[in-house]
Amino acid sequence: MGTGIFNADGAAWKNQRALARPHFQVTEYKGAAHIETQINQVFGIIEKSIADGDVIDVQDLWSRYMIDTATGFLFGHCVNALDVPQSAFVSAFNYTQKVCGWKIRLCDYQHFVPAREFPQKVKDMDDLLLPIVDAAIAKQIARRDQGLQDGEEDKHENLLTHFLNSVDENGQPFDRVYLRDMLMNFLLAGRDTSTNLLTFLCYNLGKHPDVMERVRQEIFTVVGRDRKPEHDDIKKLKFMKQVINETLRLYPAVPFNIKTCLEDDVLPNGYFIPKGSLVVHSSYVTHRMKEYWGEDAEEFDPDRWGPERVKMVRPFMFFPFHAGPRICLGQNFAYNQAMNTLTRLMQRYTWKVVDGFEPRPESDITMYSRNGCQIIFSRYED
Ligand code: HEM
Repeated sequence: MGTGIFNADGAAWKNQRALARPHFQVTEYKGAAHIETQINQVFGIIEKSIADGDVIDVQDLWSRYMIDTATGFLFGHCVNALDVPQSAFVSAFNYTQKVCGWKIRLCDYQHFVPAREFPQKVKDMDDLLLPIVDAAIAKQIARRDQGLQDGEEDKHENLLTHFLNSVDENGQPFDRVYLRDMLMNFLLAGRDTSTNLLTFLCYNLGKHPDVMERVRQEIFTVVGRDRKPEHDDIKKLKFMKQVINETLRLYPAVPFNIKTCLEDDVLPNGYFIPKGSLVVHSSYVTHRMKEYWGEDAEEFDPDRWGPERVKMVRPFMFFPFHAGPRICLGQNFAYNQAMNTLTRLMQRYTWKVVDGFEPRPESDITMYSRNGCQIIFSRYED
């Protein structure tokens, strides 16, 4: 993670956050265009499963989809996991996260975590990333040598070019290792969180055909049966957003988090926290507490986000993106991407969860289902 945004504090964190924000906004306004190549690949995989009568593990599918869209967005080089699931980069990315997840859990005993292959896996990721960073730096130097200014287009080509056209917290150009760390942090931030959201969306909709039909009718009314959604369409998909919030409530992708207490403090319930304590808090637990959400807290009910009942949701009852200065930077981007993807998917397909299948949520750094998510797709015909 190096000097990337999750590890950074103070001026370095502030600078990275301020630099990245506009790039997210620019991408948001592009609507569904940036996912079109990958969504068509997903359609191809679903069509094959329909023809062969196969079940699809959507957790695996969305994980490959997310890494492909994210790498395009971040550094303009899709790793093509939808076509080549077990590339060295993807398996190294999975392996290193698993090891880190165990190290976080075991704290002082982390040296017991087997991690013999860790250096090789980091190298596997570097082998892909560093040449991309170097090529982007070389391109930028060549442009400057030719006396060309960095145009707006070039600046927002991807997050890497955006950072290349900026300076670090000391006013210096970013070096290649700094840029690599930045990319890895954003990749980590974006892949498994959004995979988790799409996976549990498929699960919840597959289990609740009535809700699926309401979402579909909203899509048909707002966007139509085959048009790609624009940014303005997404804002009108109000019921879909309720379904997403209900999914994030029951299955928050970052189910717990740890912060350090900077000063002696007292919680509103009178509990004293000494300076330096690690404070662990859990969105997963809070999102399912009956005292906040009522007796049906464990039930999937998107109508609790309807215009009237949503007034009961007080601040800090619902915090899938956490809160405060380090609130998720990709929050709107994540909503947009999930909504664009779901719209395109539901214009064509319907699905159900395999009979008897129940996901088994578990958490490394982010939450996932230990047994995947088994879905059967069919073409939507009314
Ligand atoms: C459903 C999807 C997502 C969820 C639930 C989610 C959740 C979170 C949470 C809980 C944090 C706070 C972590 C902490 O305090 O340590 C966070 C931070 C962050 N997220 Fe997300 N995230 C999602 C998607 C994304 C995406 C798609 C991106 C960008 C590609 C992204 C970028 C970031 C960044 C850069 C931070 C660090 C912010 C900082 O430290 O200032 N997130 N996210």
